[in-house]
Amino acid sequence: MTDTIQPGEQVLFTLEDGKTFLVRMEAGKRHSTHRGSVDHDDVIGREWGDVLVSTSDRPVALIRPRGIDRMMKVHRRTNIMYPKDVAYLIAEMDLQSGSRVIEIGCGSGSMTQALSRAVAPGGQVISYDRRPEFLELARDNCAAAGITEVDFRLREARDPLEPGMDAIFTDVPEPWAEMEVIREALNGSGRYAAGIPTFNQAEKLAIALDHHGFAQIETVEILQRTILARGGKTRPAHRMIGHTQLLTTAVKVAPPPEPEPEPEAAAEPEGGTPTPDDE
Ligand SMILES: C[S@@+](CC[C@H](N)C(=O)[O-])C[C@H]1O[C@@H](n2cnc3c(N)ncnc32)[C@H](O)[C@@H]1O
Repeated sequence: MTDTIQPGEQVLFTLEDGKTFLVRMEAGKRHSTHRGSVDHDDVIGREWGDVLVSTSDRPVALIRPRGIDRMMKVHRRTNIMYPKDVAYLIAEMDLQSGSRVIEIGCGSGSMTQALSRAVAPGGQVISYDRRPEFLELARDNCAAAGITEVDFRLREARDPLEPGMDAIFTDVPEPWAEMEVIREALNGSGRYAAGIPTFNQAEKLAIALDHHGFAQIETVEILQRTILARGGKTRPAHRMIGHTQLLTTAVKVAPPPEPEPEPEAAAEPEGGTPTPDDE
């Protein structure tokens, strides 16, 4: 990472009202905001964190974008996963450098970016979607964030998945229909995680996971409340990030052993079964 902003890099223009714009630097271009415009030529060569002044005399801080800034700023044509949910799911799936993970339902590719960063270096992300236009959108959004190693694949529901996976994540409306192929693709004790919008779907998924030999099946919801910490009048903000997705996690375990066959009934003694009168 260089200390000065270079052409081609994305910069998070951050205004005094907290509004942000993710802008790729190109010589000769200008970016307009509700607080005035900024020429890219005035930005290129500056240090990260510098504050310049827009054409309306308002401060614009030049911030190096984080992974979550890039995720939230993807071109969206689907719902995306929120950072509060993503962080929890990555920890639950125990993703780390070298992990192999599948995503079913890449959508806009926001979660794909988080998965890819979590398993780098040396890991693998295979991301499936049944719609080619979303594969293309996710690929473009990932490339804009500098992520090019994801293996995007077209698939229909219930198509087999690449085997040997440490974890599988789904963000699709009917994950229970995928339980068999998910189980086949996961390594022993591999982790499954899902983002799921409604309670009815979460219930159906939990039942299907149980039927397919998963353990530690848990569903949670994460609510994020911002606290306005200010001298003498600290209180929660009026609005909060409430319901986004329910999050279900589970681990693949071996199916329970087949019950032992009943021992063969002892052969009847010759002469038939004794009766009380014979004793
Ligand atoms: C809500 S979007 C996923 C958004 C994504 N998690 C993100 O953060 O950008 C759901 C995606 O799942 C895809 N999909 C739905 N059912 C599927 C299935 N059975 N197999 C593959 N893709 C599926 C849809 O085409 C859609 O692109």
